[in-house]
Amino acid sequence: MTNTVQRADALVVFGVTGDLARKQILPALYAMVQRGELSEPVIGVALDDWTHDQLVQRARESIAAAVTTIDEAIFSKLAGLLGYVKGDYREADTFARLGQVLGTRKTPLFYLAIPPSMFETVVQGLQKAGLSSDARVMVEKPFGHDLASAHELNKVLHSIFPEEALFRIDHFLGKEALQNLLYFRFANSLFEPVWNRNYVESVQITMAENFGVQGRGRFYDEVGCIRDVIQNHLLNIILLLAMEPPPSGAAEQLMDEKVQVLRSMRPLVPTDVVRGQFDGYLGEPGVAAGSVVETYAALRCYIDNWRWQGVPFYIRAGKQLPVKLTEVVVKLKAPPVSLFDNPGPQSTNYIRFQIDPQVLIGIGARRKRAGETMVGEAVELDALDDTTGDLAPYERLIGDAMNGQHQLFTREDASELAWTVVEQVLNLQDKPYVYQPGTWGPVDAAAKVAPPEGWSDVKS
Ligand code: BG6
Repeated sequence: MTNTVQRADALVVFGVTGDLARKQILPALYAMVQRGELSEPVIGVALDDWTHDQLVQRARESIAAAVTTIDEAIFSKLAGLLGYVKGDYREADTFARLGQVLGTRKTPLFYLAIPPSMFETVVQGLQKAGLSSDARVMVEKPFGHDLASAHELNKVLHSIFPEEALFRIDHFLGKEALQNLLYFRFANSLFEPVWNRNYVESVQITMAENFGVQGRGRFYDEVGCIRDVIQNHLLNIILLLAMEPPPSGAAEQLMDEKVQVLRSMRPLVPTDVVRGQFDGYLGEPGVAAGSVVETYAALRCYIDNWRWQGVPFYIRAGKQLPVKLTEVVVKLKAPPVSLFDNPGPQSTNYIRFQIDPQVLIGIGARRKRAGETMVGEAVELDALDDTTGDLAPYERLIGDAMNGQHQLFTREDASELAWTVVEQVLNLQDKPYVYQPGTWGPVDAAAKVAPPEGWSDVKS
């Protein structure tokens, strides 16, 4: 059985010539070398007829796009670790040659940065070549496109690898701000007493992006906003906000508590969701004529357990909105009586967790304004993270998978339960509301699933 605490002795990246490797994986590997956290061979595999030099050149370009200046000493260390195996994933010979390159290394991490439709072929190829027994596998999102396909993928992976050898990625879990959310909740006793239905009025989550589908029209049109970011990234944020304190920070115990939340989530139905599509989406390359896929979604969901019963969790997410920003506002109920002034609808009394662009935790409160009368004003007490020592999500996640640490990955049960929450709203065929790029989406239509007093202001 795989030893989950032993470090992997090589990293094999399937799909190394692709977009994800260019944008995320290669810069992450460079950063790992820079930190002194990668000295194992990194073998790229892909169909493209590339040489080792071409892979090194690609690495240089992609790192140059990610850092201000390339440190040549670091880069040459990375280049020295890189290897390339060209081959078709359907051919045994590809895996035989990979085996030769791996040589005596027997506990590699195989990173499947390839479409899920190829997973089965690759894991079977690995097994037939005798490369799977002490290996780990890391798989990229999307993990399936609905419950049935996620279940099928789990079956395929489990036919060869035990659960402790599998690492399902959601890059949001590698973000500093999500780590901080978990830390902040359970490292302070101040919040626990109010962290429940008695004090929390609502939880509001915004994920806004001020750009469109960026040339990924074909992919996006098969996915849409709910699959692309809500079923994974934003549900994961809810789990961190809503879970019970685990007995320890151990991966299994964290995951057990997350799964309990997923089990208590009320499955969404069409009336919980309002979908939008930005004007111009239909003209994007790769988008089907007359597509009804949503580029925006607003929804309201509930967690039917003792802690959260009756507390609405609101989500709005979309492309072509006014800003790029992801944040959570946990809004507390207003004090029962206003002793001094009447502040009107409460714009304070909240805790803000900004995930992006800043890692910030803010507490919204009211205080007396200086002067003769007892009149107040809103203030926000902000703790802004110094992100100097921050690791990019892929750097953290690849490192953790190499080290066999599961805390930031999704377990089999969670990978399927998350689909059950959204299953009934995945393939809606009604026409989405059209909204203009640069606006907050179809605001009037979305009001029916928005906080009754409107969304709290975002901090941009
Ligand atoms: C990806 C989605 O998973 O997350 C993209 O496919 C989205 O559509 C991206 O833009 C957002 O990630 P980040 O880290 O830039 O907020």
